[in-house]
Amino acid sequence: MKNKITIVGAGFVGATTAHWLAERELGDIVLLDIPATETMPKGKALDLMEAGPVLGYDTKVVGTTDYADAANSDVVVVTAGMARKPGMTREDLVGINQKIITDVANNIAATSPNAIVVVVTNPLDTMTFLAYKVLSAKGFPKNRVIGQAGVLDSARMRTFMAMEMGVSVENTHAFVLGGHGDEMVPLTRYSTIAGIPMTELMPKERVDAIVQRTRQGGAEIVNLLKTGSAYFAPGAAVAEMVEAILKDKKLVRPCAAYLDGEYGIKDMYFGVPVVLGRNGCEKIIEVALTDEESAMMNKSAELVRGTMSALKF
Ligand code: NAI
Ligand code: 2OP
Repeated sequence: MKNKITIVGAGFVGATTAHWLAERELGDIVLLDIPATETMPKGKALDLMEAGPVLGYDTKVVGTTDYADAANSDVVVVTAGMARKPGMTREDLVGINQKIITDVANNIAATSPNAIVVVVTNPLDTMTFLAYKVLSAKGFPKNRVIGQAGVLDSARMRTFMAMEMGVSVENTHAFVLGGHGDEMVPLTRYSTIAGIPMTELMPKERVDAIVQRTRQGGAEIVNLLKTGSAYFAPGAAVAEMVEAILKDKKLVRPCAAYLDGEYGIKDMYFGVPVVLGRNGCEKIIEVALTDEESAMMNKSAELVRGTMSALKF
């Protein structure tokens, strides 16, 4: 049987994710939104299907406002919510997006009880935690609720590393852990070019500049776009996660996972290296950190906890 992938929120990130996924022919795609103009998801879905003959894919894409069309999805990607505007932090979004995520998670639990849920909505770690709270009350285990941030943040860092060295992005590997915020933790020791740690290939000030630009990567795009936040790279990052899950690849990537003592952190979602496969977040990999790296992780966790405290139950 074909896989079924639902994307809740057919805005910039949702539609772009659908685009990257359609090309990979991983399964049928449902684009679900509750927009001002009710036909918008149908328009985007049809437009994507009409690209199929040119690009050579046969992916079926359905646009809808009705969760019945999304029933029994294998993977549900959640991009519903508000995006940052210039001057807004991800944390500013908590109030608005808490209502949306609660509604979306309840609908997913009712219609796709076996799905793996990938949350994208910001503030990412807090919204993934919230989705897990709602979904776990309906029987979802922690491995089936995952947040996307580290794949994007690491891709940004890889882009900057490749630019700095004048080499292919394919030669780069980066590990950005922690919360998806200004205190995220780019692990330079574990970030390499052709297997060589970046710290051995460039002076410290260039390493520091890349770390800083990575941390500000989302804001850099917001400030350039003026009217919203990034969507090409976020969509590509989600598509990679969905592919790893559906193909049971056991791909190691930094993702927001529920921590129960790993890295000394408990009862929150936070970016750590995980193994992605058909059961979602199949394993959390614990790497040894220096005191300095641990301190950065703790600072980032504190920031996420601060945002979580804005949730109102
Ligand atoms: P957008 O505004 O283009 O799309 C959001 C869509 O959600 C809209 O079409 C809206 O109608 C829909 N929506 C709102 N309430 C809904 C509900 N209850 N049910 C279904 N759909 C609903 O925003 P964009 O740019 O797509 O960003 C979406 C979210 O993703 C934002 O919170 C943004 O901050 C976040 N984001 C997260 C990233 C990450 O790395 N985790 C990267 C980029 C964006
Ligand atoms: C980003 O990092 C806004 O979280 C979003 O682009």
